[in-house]
Order: sequence, then structure tokens, then C-alpha cells
Amino acid sequence: MRRQLGIAVVGFGWMGQAHSRSVMRIPSLFPERGYAPKLVVCAESVRERHQLATGGFGFAESTADWRAAVDRPDVDVVYVTAPNMLHEEIVTAAAALGKHVFCEKPVGGTPAQTVRCWDACNAARSVTGVGYNYRFAPLVQHAKGLIERGDLGTITNYRGRFFSMFGADPLGLLSWRFDLDAAGHGVTSDILSHAIDLAMMLNGPITSVVGSGAGFITQRPVAGAGASHYARGTHGDPMGPVTNEDYFGALVMFANGSRGTFEASRTIVGPESQMAFDVYGTGGAVNWNFETMNELGVYLADAPERGYTTVRAGERHPHNAAFVPGDANALGFEDLLAIEDHEYLTAVSQGRPHSAGFDEAVAYVSVQAALLRSWSSGSWEKVIPVNSANVTSLVPADAAALLQR
Ligand SMILES: NC(=O)c1ccc[n+]([C@@H]2O[C@H](COP(=O)([O-])OP(=O)(O)OC[C@H]3O[C@@H](n4cnc5c(N)ncnc54)[C@H](O)[C@@H]3O)[C@@H](O)[C@H]2O)c1
Repeated sequence: MRRQLGIAVVGFGWMGQAHSRSVMRIPSLFPERGYAPKLVVCAESVRERHQLATGGFGFAESTADWRAAVDRPDVDVVYVTAPNMLHEEIVTAAAALGKHVFCEKPVGGTPAQTVRCWDACNAARSVTGVGYNYRFAPLVQHAKGLIERGDLGTITNYRGRFFSMFGADPLGLLSWRFDLDAAGHGVTSDILSHAIDLAMMLNGPITSVVGSGAGFITQRPVAGAGASHYARGTHGDPMGPVTNEDYFGALVMFANGSRGTFEASRTIVGPESQMAFDVYGTGGAVNWNFETMNELGVYLADAPERGYTTVRAGERHPHNAAFVPGDANALGFEDLLAIEDHEYLTAVSQGRPHSAGFDEAVAYVSVQAALLRSWSSGSWEKVIPVNSANVTSLVPADAAALLQR
């Protein structure tokens, strides 16, 4: 007997629609599942999207009032896919009502908000999920297996980056992402969180960091409600200030003794969506780039022929066969979400923790707090696990001032 899981989605923009599509696909992709997902209600402030939710996606109902959606007795799981600074209010309300919560990364726009969400869900015993979806790429899972098996020897260095062009056009709209009040921090809350989460999954905890951020495009055309960060204004539109960082770069030390470098930029020109890593060990190396997510570069020092081999994703890699048989029949971005949502809903139905959940979200913001301190101090900073008692003292109080450094 499958356990029925009623789902509310709050925020029906890019990720709200992407997760809803995943939930719709789950029954055909994962027939062995032990749960039956149902799209119960979609909460979205832009009313024009309600028809799409009920018509195109089959939600039983749509509303502009997220509180009413979360409060429904037939909702077991709340997906929080609204802008970052709304996460805390929605997550804590859902937890107080005893719901399980999947929140898009980074869970709140500041480390303090992430900690409060974590505390609320721990108190409610909610099964939590956070949208670190790149973890679920079949070849990322394969790379994890190679590292854990020791095929790369002892890891010596790690290079992570998320270079995206989504903000490279100076006429790209001033959507919520570029606003400290709506997003919280910039790339450190947004795309860098993916790169560092993946690094910690593959190579373990980070112990110290030094880094700094920068803003490159300081004004953008003002956006209307619900505008996508991929939308564009025109010359002569009213302009508003960008108030969080476009770029961050860092050197880090891992607990296992290896060293790492990280960069994230949303205004770079050239790399379009390079969420990528290189891992080097004494016995070999691997590299992966989301832009070519169905390929993994593998170098094994004791292979008869020197050089990188390109491994193409196929049905022998984790979850790949749910989508396509054989080898090199490529998967895409939303397939990662389908795997992620299936893994999360399986954990909910079994009443066990899911990874990545809010523990991992807090692990990331502990690193983020150290990065922000380093940006402020100009020095190496230790990563100190954040909690409700220490988080205020571990994050620079004036986030706006960091951009002036
Ligand atoms: N994991 C990933 O790869 C990934 C990718 C993109 C975004 N994200 C995360 O997903 C979240 C949403 O980002 P997005 O790109 O989908 O943003 P988006 O702007 O496309 O969508 C947000 C939606 O929330 C709606 N909204 C705003 N206020 C609301 C309210 N009070 N009640 C109900 N709805 C409201 C907006 O109208 C909009 O439709 C963010 O936290 C972001 O960091 C994750």
C-alpha cells in the first residue's frame, strides 16, 4: 500500500514549476516507489500563474494565500520555492503545522535564517530537503563512488566553480536575486552554495577559508512582480541598484588536509552554466561540468595509457536507467530534480532523514559565514558550525557594507 503524500508548492516560478513537473513524472519514472504523490495546492502571488497550475499541472487548487495552502489538512509536504527572504516565514509556519518541508537552496537568505528554519524543523521532526540537485547527477554519484573506493588515492586538491551568465547582460532585470532585502546575499547564497555543497559531499568538511566578493554590474532595469532573472529590459528603463555580490572567490582547507579553490560569478561572459569541479588525488583525477553533465573526465595514474578518459552516463550509473536505457542517451537539468524529489519523498514516506536536508544547509551556511567574515576581515577564518546561540556573532552585521570593500 503506497502512502499518499499531499503536496503544497509555494512560489510557482522557475523552480516551483520544475519541482511540480518532477512530481507529475514520478509515477512513470519510479514505479517501485512506496508513496503516491498528489499536487494538492499551489500558492503563488502572481494570479496569472494560477490557471497554469490547475490547468497544465493538475493541482487541485491554487491560491494567492500561502498560509491557507500550508494549513490544509490534506497537505503533508510543503515545497518552498519562493524568493529566499520569504523562506523562513513559510518554512517555520509549515513546521509548526507538522508538515515535512523541502526548501530550495540556500534555505533563507542569511545564515541566521537558515538556522531558524533548521531549529523549527528539528523541533517539529519534519523530514527536510534542500535543493542541492547537482548531487543527483548520475555521474556525480559515480565520481563519489570512485573517490570513496579510493580509486583516486589520497585527495590533494579540489577546484569548484559555478560560473553562470544569467546576470551578464547589464539590461538583465533587477529581479529579487539582485536585492539584499529579497535574496539576502548574492552568489554566496545562490550559486556558490551549490559548488561548496557538492565539494563537501565529495571531499568532506571545510575547516578554514579566505575569500572576497565583488559587484560588477551596479544598476539594472527595475523589474515587475514575479519577473524572471533571465528577462531583459531596454535602454531608458528606470534603473535600480544591485545590493548584493556578483562574484566570490575563495581558497579553502578541507579537514582531510586537501586544499581547494572556489569561484562563483553570475556576471561572467563565456561560461553559460558551468557548475563544475575537478578533484585531484595521488592516484588519479576526475572532472565534471554541468554544461556537459553526461560526461565525466577520469584520469587513473596506473592505467596502461596516460590521459583523461571520457566516461559517458549510461544505465549502469545511479538512477540513469529510470529515464533512458543504454549508454549516452543524455539526461538534463529537470531529470536531476526528478531524482532529487523521488529520493526526498521516499525519505518522507519512510520517516527517515534525507540528504541533502537542513543539516547540510546549515553545514553550507557555516562555511558561508566564514567566507563573509573573511571578506570583511581580509584574513583566513575558521569554519565554526553555526547555531542559534552563535550565528549573530559569526556573520558580519552590515551585509551592505561588504560590497563597498
Ligand atoms: N536548485 C536550483 O538549481 C535552483 C535554481 C533556481 C532557483 N533556485 C532557488 O529556488 C527559489 C526560487 O527561485 P526561482 O528561480 O524559482 O524564482 P522565481 O522568481 O522564478 O519564482 C519565485 C516565485 O515565487 C512567487 N512569489 C513571490 N512572493 C510570493 C508569495 N508571498 N507567495 C507566493 N508566491 C510568491 C513569485 O511570484 C514567483 O513566481 C530560490 O530560493 C532560489 O535560490 C534553485
